[in-house]
Amino acid sequence: MDSGLTFFARPVLAIETSCDETSVAVLSGDRVLANVVSSQAELHEKWGGVVPEAASRAHVEAILPVLEEALAISGLREFGAIAVTNRPGLVGALSVGVTAAKSLAYAWGIPLIGVNHLEGHLCSVYAGGGRTAYPCLTLMVSGGHTELVLVRGPLDYVEVGHTIDDAAGEAFDKGSRLLGLGYPGGRAIQEAARSGSAGRYPLPKGLSGDTLDFSFSGLKTAMRRLVETHGSAISVPDAAASLQRAIVSVLVERTARAAERFSAASIALVGGVAANEALRAELGAEAARMGLAFSVPAFDLCTDNAAMIGIAGSLRLARGERDDFGLDVFPNAALPR
Ligand code: KG4
Ligand code: ZN
Repeated sequence: MDSGLTFFARPVLAIETSCDETSVAVLSGDRVLANVVSSQAELHEKWGGVVPEAASRAHVEAILPVLEEALAISGLREFGAIAVTNRPGLVGALSVGVTAAKSLAYAWGIPLIGVNHLEGHLCSVYAGGGRTAYPCLTLMVSGGHTELVLVRGPLDYVEVGHTIDDAAGEAFDKGSRLLGLGYPGGRAIQEAARSGSAGRYPLPKGLSGDTLDFSFSGLKTAMRRLVETHGSAISVPDAAASLQRAIVSVLVERTARAAERFSAASIALVGGVAANEALRAELGAEAARMGLAFSVPAFDLCTDNAAMIGIAGSLRLARGERDDFGLDVFPNAALPR
């Protein structure tokens, strides 16, 4: 099968600082030679979420040590181009990565390309030889986004569904906070849910009817009510299992509906919440039932990382796209066309 994916011919250095992970990766084609991630989760835990000003300062501290480590792991010192996340994200955080990328591109005299963070997540499935059959119905689920995207070919996207309020990752994070399990909440809920019973506490699934959109704000309210009603008598494992069940079942149901509606040839799962084992297993099983191929990246390529930015950047560089030193940062951005 010709995947139609052409990668930049020379090694690419990639930088990601859009939220609370400082990451630098080295790629050769679709091969990830290094992917170093320094997480600020501990820093933000006491506030229960990311504090933008603190995130920017932590990126400033971490960026050069993370770069050094990525260079050491890859053994490379010469690159053909630099790819950097420049949208969407926290502007102060993005500025740190973009400034570092411009400085290196200037010093080394090599091209620069700004990458859309969401496109990075969508392209994470291509790392290490991963390929999808088109059209590929992709569920993109993270702390900031919950979208159904029909990928019609390489770098060719149509959004077909999205959340009308909270993202799925936010629903995990807020539920975790209510249950006293800390931040970030997805992994904490997953671990607590292992010994819990999902049938114990019924929770709403958001929008009903024949929609491809999502709503998770009712779930947040229901979780708060659950905690208030039961107080210290609440079973944290059962509540975590019930929350995970409510989120995963609606994500799987809607992805399957979209795949069928758009006659998808395959299904993919990307973004931080794609690290969730129950979601990976259940969406994979649903794809198999539908007779469709299923792709999900390795765990370390699901949560924010620079390797996925390098993959997306490399595909765009191979098409001749470049940015100049006027490259700006943007808090909001739709998927590129
Ligand atoms: O993609 P990502 O690293 O950052 C954004 O671009 O938002 O996603 C972070 C989100 C957080 O909400 C976190 O709780 C969630 O991904 N997450 C998980 C798991 N690991 C991370 N959610 C459910 N299960 C997990 N194992
Ligand atoms: Zn992300």
